[in-house]
Amino acid sequence: MPRTWPRCLNGVVIAPSLLAADFGRLAEAVHALEGSGADRLHIDVMDGAFVPNFTFGTDTLRALRGETDLPFEVHLMVREPDQHLRTFAEAGADAMTVHWEACPHLHRTLVNIRALGCRAGGAINVSTPAQSLYDVLDVMDLALVMTVDPGFGGQALIPRALTKVAELRREIDAQGVAVELEVDGGVDAANAALCASAGATVMVAGSSVFRHPEGPAGGVRRLLEVAARDVTR
Ligand code: DX5
Ligand code: ZN
Repeated sequence: MPRTWPRCLNGVVIAPSLLAADFGRLAEAVHALEGSGADRLHIDVMDGAFVPNFTFGTDTLRALRGETDLPFEVHLMVREPDQHLRTFAEAGADAMTVHWEACPHLHRTLVNIRALGCRAGGAINVSTPAQSLYDVLDVMDLALVMTVDPGFGGQALIPRALTKVAELRREIDAQGVAVELEVDGGVDAANAALCASAGATVMVAGSSVFRHPEGPAGGVRRLLEVAARDVTR
């Protein structure tokens, strides 16, 4: 059964990205998030084609599903994601995010994700305009704005991408839809407040959580602290 959890439509939650964890100790990495205030686990699936890297597959999800109660938000950075939606849903995904750039019929894909009992997310790359998502916001639960070129963790946030976050914020509010707005890539304690001010409600954070000197829980706490402080919306 899919886990249900409250949507973050105002304020800020943190979605630690497993990409920055020690791949030899993934179970320990998710255990370290227990009680940290993390809202969900962000799992980056890469196919070596849509992005130049490989990461996790359905077996990883199945193995981790027994290790944590955190909802699994699966970010599918793959070509032709439609072929894989059912297997990821069955492996334990609670939300699946697909890229506009990989989906010729994004509306249909989002509807299909919901039909599988998952939250549906639509993502746009740095060079894709915010408007690309406007006509499908009504069938989405989550809009993801890439703030780096996808494929790797540990890159610096591209500030220009935040203007798209602000544009999407205005459109989500204008349409009155219950869509979370997520930033992904290079989010850290130095820029989390900016992301929140632009209108993001979900911060994906890999390096700034898993490489935090006080450990992953310390990283989540720090981000919550700085993001909450400057939310002006
Ligand atoms: C990048 C991934 C991100 C990545 C973020 O392609 O989509 O989720 O894990 O990692 P950091 O926070 O290190 O930029
Ligand atoms: Zn991601």
